[in-house]
Amino acid sequence: MRLEGAVALVTGASRGIGLSLAEALAARGARHVYGTARKPDAFRRSATLDQARFTLLRMDVTDESSVADVALLTNDVTLLINNAGILSHGDILQADRTTIRSEIETNCLGLVNVVRHFAPAIARNGGGVIMNVLSVSALASAPNLGVYAASKAAAWAATQAMRATLAPKNIRVLAAFPGPVDTDMSRSLEVRKAAPMDVAEGLLTGIEAEQEEIFPDDMAKQTGGVWRSNPKMLMRQFALL
Ligand SMILES: NC(=O)c1ccc[n+]([C@@H]2O[C@H](COP(=O)([O-])OP(=O)(O)OC[C@H]3O[C@@H](n4cnc5c(N)ncnc54)[C@H](OP(=O)(O)O)[C@@H]3O)[C@@H](O)[C@H]2O)c1
Repeated sequence: MRLEGAVALVTGASRGIGLSLAEALAARGARHVYGTARKPDAFRRSATLDQARFTLLRMDVTDESSVADVALLTNDVTLLINNAGILSHGDILQADRTTIRSEIETNCLGLVNVVRHFAPAIARNGGGVIMNVLSVSALASAPNLGVYAASKAAAWAATQAMRATLAPKNIRVLAAFPGPVDTDMSRSLEVRKAAPMDVAEGLLTGIEAEQEEIFPDDMAKQTGGVWRSNPKMLMRQFALL
């Protein structure tokens, strides 16, 4: 897909990878970028974002009516990036049910909500691309990230189903699997992390090449290599983290 001239919508664009994606899309010549945030007031002001080609809209992916409202306002989208997400740490057997529900509600059902409301307009616009930002945790689960991994694995399964359903409408559904990234989400993780802008650039390069599975950073590429050649080994490696 050519990003130059595309009209993109990025969920969870208030900060982190989403904000970097909005900045990088505008820099690569997107005609317009809609960024959504739960609380537009909390949007991190960006000196590098071309404000003339950016609109900030309020959307909570778990609230179907707020998703429907934004879909009505933005009927020119050809690239949808489902980036909004949350993460909790801890043992899935100890996690309370509210935490588990909220993570699945946001990371999987929220993403499905957004695609349901935006796919018809993308199809009417002649087709386009949907990229779901998942995580390497969708492919194998570390014990301390069991709830997150379950929500992202569910989103990965949903992505594969949507890919098949939307192909006849000329909509390509891509899955992205970043490794650890230096954002608020991973603040307490003591591991090497990629810079959000490097990850955003890797994701956009993957979209331009229409890679069905995008591994945007070094750790992700390494993980993707093991997943492709020996998924059982990846499960064993992650179980030791
Ligand atoms: N950081 C990592 O290590 C890493 C690695 C792999 C994949 N990822 C994935 O990359 C994506 C972005 O993560 P990040 O690191 O940039 O996280 P972040 O800095 O914590 O930002 C998360 C974004 O998601 C938004 N969000 C959360 N719940 C939402 C909801 N219900 N409705 C709408 N927006 C919501 C947040 O909005 P508010 O400002 O309103 O809270 C924020 O804009 C997530 O899907 C994450 O799982 C992250």
